[in-house]
Amino acid sequence: MIIKVIGSAAGGGFPQANCNCRNCADLRRGLPGLRPRTQSSLAVSADGRSWALLNASPDLRQQIAATPELWPEAGGAPRSSPIKAVVLTNGDIDHVAGLLSLREGIAFTLYASAPVHAALAANAIFNVLDARAVRRAVLPLGRPVELAGGLSVEAFAVAGKVALYLEGETAPGATHDGDTLGVRLTDLGSGASAFYIPACAAVDAALAARLRNAALVLFDGTLYTDDEMITQGLSSKTGRRMGHISMSGSEGSIAALAGLDVQRKMFVHINNSNPVLREDSPQRHAVVRAGWEVAHDGMEIRL
Ligand code: MLT
Ligand code: MN
Ligand code: ZN
Repeated sequence: MIIKVIGSAAGGGFPQANCNCRNCADLRRGLPGLRPRTQSSLAVSADGRSWALLNASPDLRQQIAATPELWPEAGGAPRSSPIKAVVLTNGDIDHVAGLLSLREGIAFTLYASAPVHAALAANAIFNVLDARAVRRAVLPLGRPVELAGGLSVEAFAVAGKVALYLEGETAPGATHDGDTLGVRLTDLGSGASAFYIPACAAVDAALAARLRNAALVLFDGTLYTDDEMITQGLSSKTGRRMGHISMSGSEGSIAALAGLDVQRKMFVHINNSNPVLREDSPQRHAVVRAGWEVAHDGMEIRL
């Protein structure tokens, strides 16, 4: 299985258009030890020919341009694409807006939970995905589905919340099962598998048990501390309020995954406010000492 991190940042990317936080400002002035990141997405393949996108970010056009594996075959048909499936883990803008960049006739299957499909169906702009090319399929929970080329995905619900643009229709931060999914990707040929959980509000006992002994976990790395957007003057929201567990602290992801014997742990969906984006920061050193990697755009993992 080949996993390419095509976008490693949270919503807004790094730098974010309107953000003058220390990280964004230092990246713009070219300070060493900081690298730009596009919004949250993976490309995954078992056979190296058919690819699945895990989430479709607003930066998808740029991400495809930077990833030759996702280009039409050289000398192939006038219109073709190796992208055969798109799997959505939630309905957030940073994970769905890229669908609009797949509207020119690419034939793929769009997998998502029932509530996320309902959110897309309620937004007429997504009708631009012609049903003759794009099949919409509900991802079952707890049952693997073959995507393409010997790659399967099994979805499971994790703690989270509805997309920001749906919050008006429910209580703030409310959630139903399936608003936020984690997935397990498996190469049906080799048996290799990896978990992708780019949004997660809490690691409960069931999730911890699921991740035990995993070969690879790509996990929600939005914030380092729950109140970092407040203390930096960027927002009035905590990570908890946004549906994201923090990296640090006794209830954080580093503590929650310690002792689960995961071979490789990697943070994805990293917000521009997060001090781990600075390669020389104490927080980055702490994360690395705890056995975690910080994903960057273009990173490739073979399992
Ligand atoms: C999130 O991960 O919390 C969302 O992507 C936020 C947003 O909609 O910008
Ligand atoms: Mn997000
Ligand atoms: Zn910023």
